[in-house]
Amino acid sequence: MADLTTRLFGWTLKNPIMPAAGPPVRDARMAQACIEGGVGALVTKTISTRAADVPTPNMWDLKSYFLNTELWSELSPEHWLEVEFPEIRRLADEAGIPVIISLGYTAEEIAQLAPKIKPFADAVELSTHYIEDDPRPMQDAIRAAKEALDVPVLVKMSPFREPQPAAIAAVEAGVDGIVATNSFGPTFGIDIERGGRPLMGGKGYGWLSGPALKPISLRMVYDIAQVVDVPIIGVGGISKGTDVVEYLMAGASAVGICTAAITRGPAVFGKIAKQLAKWMDKNGYATIPDLQGLTLRQQIPVMEAPPVLIPEKCTGCNFCVISCVYDALYLDENRKIAIVEDNCFKCGVCLSRCPVDALESPY
Ligand SMILES: Cc1cc2nc3c(=O)[nH]c(=O)nc-3n(C[C@H](O)[C@H](O)[C@H](O)COP(=O)(O)O)c2cc1C
Ligand code: SF4
Ligand code: SF4
Repeated sequence: MADLTTRLFGWTLKNPIMPAAGPPVRDARMAQACIEGGVGALVTKTISTRAADVPTPNMWDLKSYFLNTELWSELSPEHWLEVEFPEIRRLADEAGIPVIISLGYTAEEIAQLAPKIKPFADAVELSTHYIEDDPRPMQDAIRAAKEALDVPVLVKMSPFREPQPAAIAAVEAGVDGIVATNSFGPTFGIDIERGGRPLMGGKGYGWLSGPALKPISLRMVYDIAQVVDVPIIGVGGISKGTDVVEYLMAGASAVGICTAAITRGPAVFGKIAKQLAKWMDKNGYATIPDLQGLTLRQQIPVMEAPPVLIPEKCTGCNFCVISCVYDALYLDENRKIAIVEDNCFKCGVCLSRCPVDALESPY
């Protein structure tokens, strides 16, 4: 069985999977459910210097993506300090897992909050969601946290930032790790069954998470991993074990999950860990470091020849023919695929359309 043990900031985690800040870690009761669900570490819902006034409705599942207008915690920082953090600390100690406390947003707010959360945190994560693209407010927030705390300070990037300059600026300010990414937005959803009203409350905008976010966040991780050496926690659209594999290959050291834990419940953490181990076993990877950063050492592919058909696998379903806009594929009289090599533009789409892997990549 693959070894999922993950080293991060001197901790040894049983697996690289943790919750991302959000409703699945909105209080100690939910944190306990995440522990029971099988997380390797805890991250708590972002708190700020005052409770958020969260609009309603604020979450909508659209299957391939998810919209939310949640802000930071609707519970006051005083409540967190008196009730939730002590209990979460106790639960985490009992389970032997670290606690990453998420704080927002400005340097002034971080300077106020950081000394108070010190007894409860193994690390802090600073959300940059509501601070501008200029890296200086982020750097000031990092410096404020570093000054108040002696635990690792992570910064969480939003996916609409230019990742490399932001990551370099964060490291210059002394950050110990980067979380990529938060949800993407603003976006918009419409309820056509109710006269076309917006799906979300507040200003009607939503922030996108879930599967559709994955390629955006994955690109952020891949870009960031090329310019800085600090650990990266990949977050965005993870719903199965192979998503974790992608983030690790892109250069992440661990991953966070929010939407899948909302839609499928906290048991999803352990399920995804199991899927990860199974995939690793099947593909001959023994440990998490075996996967880390593999993509960073890969060549960008060039398709130099048409796809190769494996005739005995082809069912004649026609999917590839429909998708080949270059007229390079047709079904012959035996309902098997024929390839007109001269017409093939080497676009590659048929390789991803074949449901039975009857077309093989020539590269
Ligand atoms: C309902 C909801 C609330 C969220 N609240 C926070 C938050 O308080 N702080 C934060 O940094 N990110 C927050 N996020 C962003 C998630 O932590 C995560 O970065 C994002 O949703 C992408 O991951 P996912 O696709 O696994 O959900 C929230 C996301 C959702 C869906
Ligand atoms: S690679 Fe593109 S052009 Fe070539 S056969 Fe496949 S779909 Fe057609
Ligand atoms: S998609 Fe695959 S199985 Fe279907 S016709 Fe094309 S090669 Fe054959």
